[in-house]
Amino acid sequence: IKVGLLFGGRSAEHQVSLQSAKSIMAAIDNDKYEVVKIGITSDGKWLLNESAETFINGDDPETISLQTEALPVTLVAGDQSGELQCLEAEAAGNQLDVLFPILHGPYGEDGSVQGLAKLANIPCVGSGILSSAVGMDKDFTKRILMQAGIDVADFITLRDSRFSEADLQRIEDRFSYPVFVKPANMGSSIGVSKAANRSELAAAIDLAFRFDRKLLVEKGIVGRELECAVLGNDFPEASVVGEIISNVSFYDYKAKYIDENGATLSLPAKVSDSLLEKIQQTSIAVFEALECRGLARVDMFVTDDEQIIINEVNTLPGFTKISMYPKLWEASGLSYSDLIDRLISLAIE
Ligand code: DAL
Ligand code: MG
Repeated sequence: IKVGLLFGGRSAEHQVSLQSAKSIMAAIDNDKYEVVKIGITSDGKWLLNESAETFINGDDPETISLQTEALPVTLVAGDQSGELQCLEAEAAGNQLDVLFPILHGPYGEDGSVQGLAKLANIPCVGSGILSSAVGMDKDFTKRILMQAGIDVADFITLRDSRFSEADLQRIEDRFSYPVFVKPANMGSSIGVSKAANRSELAAAIDLAFRFDRKLLVEKGIVGRELECAVLGNDFPEASVVGEIISNVSFYDYKAKYIDENGATLSLPAKVSDSLLEKIQQTSIAVFEALECRGLARVDMFVTDDEQIIINEVNTLPGFTKISMYPKLWEASGLSYSDLIDRLISLAIE
């Protein structure tokens, strides 16, 4: 089975994707799958096999760093047709049986690549266009979840074209500090800040607008930060639960990937059987509300009185060997290689 492994990409989570892809290449069952490596540079150039390999190996995992240069820019028509031709060439020259996009963030996790795969008629691991797009956009995610009766943190959406000083007052009238400010479409906490006063709020808004034209200001939730992995298509299953014990102000990019002391992962998390069941049911409800397929990691807060408040959904979660999604499955009895196998099977079933 020929698997097109797509990695890198134009989003600010480019480096995270390279690490996820390296782990998959090292663990995939080479007797069963032939991996066609497709790398995308941060400026959007597509590379195949040898050049993709040189590209991925040239990146030192030690130097994983926040890429602020690769901010999302408008996709021009030339890029679009270039990408499509590339994938068609893939399909013809390499007869891909399935595409495994391990791209995080916009231009990969957001439905764009899923649309490309659909046009090229290649099955694709993970959610389709709509679920990927909705899952990438925190504002749309929340609206769908609220409609499904699932709790999310209260929020205000701002658009940079209409932002004014009056919004700061509106935020303060609605929420007490601290609040979180997040680009609507981004991952790995890039562009996210916790603001404790008005000047921090203004700076946080400024930063978030560098990553997206839409942002969310959210009420800060006091509670445990838990994550649950969901796997499947029509009858998804939920894993055990993991907990992020953050040693810093919040679980930001540095705590996720750079500073080993930034956060501790507790896995499986200490939760009562009844809470575990409630979390698993809610995570599956989230997956189903968004009509996800294949995989998703559902991130949430659980308050002292055991209210589950969904923070976000990741339709292509971090996938290095030490990432939460595969770790949750490992703790649930499914090895990393078997998980890859499962995901590919789910895409082509
Ligand atoms: N967005 C990152 C990759 C994650 O959710 O794991
Ligand atoms: Mg995310």
